[in-house]
Amino acid sequence: MDLIKETARRKTFAIISHPDAGKTTLTEKFLLFGGAIQTAGAVKSNKIRKTATSDFMEIEKQRGISVATSVMGFEYGGKRVNILDTPGHKDFAEDTYRTLTAVDSVILVVDCVKGVEEQTEKLMEVCRMRQTPVIIFINKMDREGRNPFELLDELEHKLQISVRPLTWPISQGQTFKGVYNLYKKELNLFDANTTRISESNIRVNDLNDPELEKWIPESFCKKLREDVALIEGVYEPFHKETYRSGLLAPVFFGSAINNFGVRELLETFLAVAPSPDEREATERIVKASEEAMSGFVFKIHANLDPNHRDRTAFFRICSGSFERNKFYYHTRLKKKIRFSSPTQFMANEKSVVDESWPGDVIGLYDNGSLKIGDSLTEGEELHFRGIPSFSPEIFKALENRDPMKAKQLDKGVRQLTEEGVAQLFIQHGARKIIGTVGELQFDVIKFRLEHEYGAQCDFTPLRFKKAFWVTSANKEMLEEFLRRKWNAIAHDKEDHPVFFAESEWMMKTAREDYPELEFHTTSEFK
Ligand code: G4P
Repeated sequence: MDLIKETARRKTFAIISHPDAGKTTLTEKFLLFGGAIQTAGAVKSNKIRKTATSDFMEIEKQRGISVATSVMGFEYGGKRVNILDTPGHKDFAEDTYRTLTAVDSVILVVDCVKGVEEQTEKLMEVCRMRQTPVIIFINKMDREGRNPFELLDELEHKLQISVRPLTWPISQGQTFKGVYNLYKKELNLFDANTTRISESNIRVNDLNDPELEKWIPESFCKKLREDVALIEGVYEPFHKETYRSGLLAPVFFGSAINNFGVRELLETFLAVAPSPDEREATERIVKASEEAMSGFVFKIHANLDPNHRDRTAFFRICSGSFERNKFYYHTRLKKKIRFSSPTQFMANEKSVVDESWPGDVIGLYDNGSLKIGDSLTEGEELHFRGIPSFSPEIFKALENRDPMKAKQLDKGVRQLTEEGVAQLFIQHGARKIIGTVGELQFDVIKFRLEHEYGAQCDFTPLRFKKAFWVTSANKEMLEEFLRRKWNAIAHDKEDHPVFFAESEWMMKTAREDYPELEFHTTSEFK
């Protein structure tokens, strides 16, 4: 009984955005609502500013912050809310992609001045891949932004998802008056305020009621009536099921910094967002309501003190309840292990937890036996899907600068890539190629190899632009391709062949010349 009840009241999600759109501000307001923090400014942005590219101490400091804020749990209206934090810096995008595999839904924050930015598009691609339900919050309405209809068009076009506004702004910037809640038929008037958390709403059943002019100037009323008529005519009504299938994104307008529109967003989110349900494992679909515990590791965080090389593995529970000190089956190592001090994260506090439920993310102390993607069960052979490696975009060959430390270098590179800092590919059985999403990772690797493993390395940039995992039912064609393209072929950690393309054109000709090959942009393919 507890299992069903606890699962149904959990909402595990991530807030994602292009840096600076307002993710940190919105997270903080949510925590204020949940009473998890008392003052604004308590949540530290874990974004690594551009100026910090070569400032290692800054990276370390930021990494420290990001572990503290990796998961933020709080209670609100009888629900247990788990927000999984994602790094803002684009160079850490892969970390974000992996975190998205551990959530049940997403809130996407878009800046009304800038619209859909590059990082947003990429994050959305990952959501689409997994059919993750998305709610969009258009932020900074207190600024002179773009026309809201134009923004909706851009969202549909660039993010390839249908949208449905649930609130509608009444003007914006200097003359921003508030929003009309199309669903509840309520007017919510704007009052710039950064600390207040209550909002009073005015019921307006009929927008044609002249009473409306009591609240907002006549010209704004006229515009609102026209806009709403247009919305009702053009956009499909909101359907929870279409949203939950990842096909329709409800849209809210507001201003996070002014705490405006945040409560509506949070309450609608809690009402419509999915609780933990099913998860796909290679073997079968696992239901959250199953008694037997199962889950997977999606993130590893190393302790940066070289004297204590222990790590925290972030584990998402998919079914059953996770109990402290109980033996669980590690399906990759085929052995039983137990954890004496699993930790839960409530706001910015960490504490040992005796029992956790589907949707929860707990920190497991790890001395090297857990890897990203590992599954724990009560004995069943299960391997959860959806934790792939994503195609990197920057490739460099790793050179050892100190032949006496070859062993340390090998060990360091292996462990760092297991942690997900970067991907390692082996070419021609020996040459190590590191693939990342951002330049910053190379600085991190170099720094950590030196400080934690005593190894020295250099990187030689390579011309490759994208990696594709290659498979084919036609073994002969695959063999021929691997032979002919040997210069651009390497193997990943599972020994799967990967093709490095130097350009779009090269990719196109490879597809044309070898029509029976399949080129995948993630390491997970059926
Ligand atoms: P991020 O985590 O997505 O990177 O964004 P963050 O919340 O840090 O917000 C980025 C900037 O946008 C911050 O200003 C923040 O104060 C501002 N901001 C957030 N919401 C709103 C809003 O509704 N309206 C307006 N006008 N601004 C908003 P900053 O100057 O970069 O940082 P700070 O010095 O204020 O912390």
